[in-house]
This record gives sequence, C-alpha cells and structure tokens, in this order.
Amino acid sequence: MELKTLNRIFLIGFMGSGKSSIGKKLAKLLQYDFIDTDKHIELSAGKSITNIFSQEGELFFREQERELLRKLNEQENIVVSTGGGMPCYKDNVVIMNKMGVTIYLKSTPKLLANRLIKRQNERPILRSVSQKDLDKFIATLLPEREKYYEQADFVLSVYNLTASDILLAINSENKLAE
Ligand code: S3P
Repeated sequence: MELKTLNRIFLIGFMGSGKSSIGKKLAKLLQYDFIDTDKHIELSAGKSITNIFSQEGELFFREQERELLRKLNEQENIVVSTGGGMPCYKDNVVIMNKMGVTIYLKSTPKLLANRLIKRQNERPILRSVSQKDLDKFIATLLPEREKYYEQADFVLSVYNLTASDILLAINSENKLAE
C-alpha cells in the first residue's frame, strides 16, 4: 500500500457484512466522526432508501452516493460506512482509495444470507428475492461486486473481526504516515 494517512477510513463490502456496527466502534476507538452513507442520504432526501429507489430510481441514488463522496473530501478524521453498491459505481472505489484507507469486510454468501434474511425488506435490491433463493442470489452478485471490493487496501474476513483488529491490520502495514 502506498503511503497514506489515516484521515479517512472507508468500510466497504456487501450488505449485511457489518460495516455500520464495526464502523461505529472503530470511530469511537479513534475518536473520529462516524458517517453512514445510507443514513446520510436518507436524511438529506427526507425519505427512506426504499422510497428513493421506488420514486427516483437506482441511478438517482447512485448519483447521490457519488455526490456525498465528493463532499467527504472536505472532511477529515472520519470513518465512513458505505452502502454495498457504492464502491461498484463508476470509479467510486478509485476515488475512495485516493481519499483514504479502504477496508473490505469480506464474508461468505451463506453468512451474509443468514444476516440478511430478516432484513430483506429494508434493501430494495433484495426485496423481490425469495428467502429460498437468497443464498444463490448473493452467490451470483458477490463475485461481480468483488471486482471492486477487492481493490481495497485491506481485505479482512468479518468472522470474529473487531474494531481493534482493523487498527492492528492497518498499523502492521507500517507504511502509514504519522
Ligand atoms: C445497497 C446496499 C445498501 C443500500 C442500498 C443499496 C446495494 O446498503 O445502500 O439498499 O446495492 O448493495 P448496506 O450495504 O448498508 O445494506
């Protein structure tokens, strides 16, 4: 990894990989601000992601994510938990890599499906997938998305992963600017 400061940390990965919960803990540990891109977009649009998708369409949502990414360039000392599709749109992942350190929280289709099964309704991408097809759906979409996710500076398995493990991994690279 090239020389990077820890001013901005982006957590990327599939829905249900735990970006928000671990992101909050990591932000607390570092005393950084925590930003959840989905929550941010919902607040500024004044409606849920589901309603944005159904009323404005997915492309509008993707452009909102991109716009937010641009704005985050003006902020420092932040941990950003990104929506699962955000790094896969245009060159967003390249931009994130330029803006800070990116961490892919890697999981398996089975684990992801187990975590997502009760929360499918909150995700427009998964709403129309039947519960019995969820595993298969994820197993097909995940490899397509991993082309982007795997461009992260760090790829960490989410299994038993803690916020301090993330810091340890980053610091062990030992190439970071102080
Ligand atoms: C999406 C993931 C969601 C949210 C939207 C689309 C995706 O975020 O941005 O429903 O395309 O994977 P989470 O990864 O936080 O669930």
